[in-house]
Amino acid sequence: MTHPNSPAAPILSQDELKTLVGLAALQYVVPGDIVGVGTGSTVNKFIDALATIKDQIKGAVSSSEASTLRLKALGIPVLDSNDVPHLSVYIDGADEIDGHGHMVKGGGAALTREKIVAAQSAKFVCIADESKLVDKLGKFPLPVEVIPMAAQRIIAQFAAMGGQATIRLKDGQPLITDNGQIIVDVLGLQIADPLAFETQVSQWPGVVTVGVFAHQKAQVCLLGTATGVKTLTF
Ligand code: A5P
Repeated sequence: MTHPNSPAAPILSQDELKTLVGLAALQYVVPGDIVGVGTGSTVNKFIDALATIKDQIKGAVSSSEASTLRLKALGIPVLDSNDVPHLSVYIDGADEIDGHGHMVKGGGAALTREKIVAAQSAKFVCIADESKLVDKLGKFPLPVEVIPMAAQRIIAQFAAMGGQATIRLKDGQPLITDNGQIIVDVLGLQIADPLAFETQVSQWPGVVTVGVFAHQKAQVCLLGTATGVKTLTF
């Protein structure tokens, strides 16, 4: 029991929680292997940690130009996903994760390559601070990568489901992804059945990737909490 006069445990910032889970993810890296690497501010912490054991791995398959730049800058070889048919582990963040390991991803616009690398990996380890854990997916605007000529029809299809979709902008212009496409962000969706939702929206013509990761869900989540890293398994 904590003595009433003992100093309280320091409250960790969101950035410190990200550092903690980035470091904790190293235990899932298989020595001598190639690691699947996601995208985002939490993954950046993982990449920094990975650099400290870079001599123990063959390299990484990256899910974005941004992660590739960071990996290379730290001296970690980046391999083409086509040359690596099978990865033992993929480590990535999430915008939301539920109690089954289903996620919403794509806040960093890298969802398509993230899903590709996740699909070639045996295990998805999600690293996130506890603000990302939700009961039900749908509070964070759902990112969907689309082919520009289909954007207005896809926006109308989401409206018919009760969602408000807008094209993501950067410097006043539609943001262009690493794949040369655009993103729509959808607010107000109730994603009660993530697997069925992902299957349905993925079939709409012009949808490149929907940011629900239910078919490529996480098997493990390392969650940064006030009391340390909590490991959730699904
Ligand atoms: C990138 O497209 C996303 O899927 C990220 O994994 C997600 O947005 C989490 O990013 P942060 O770690 O920056 O919160």
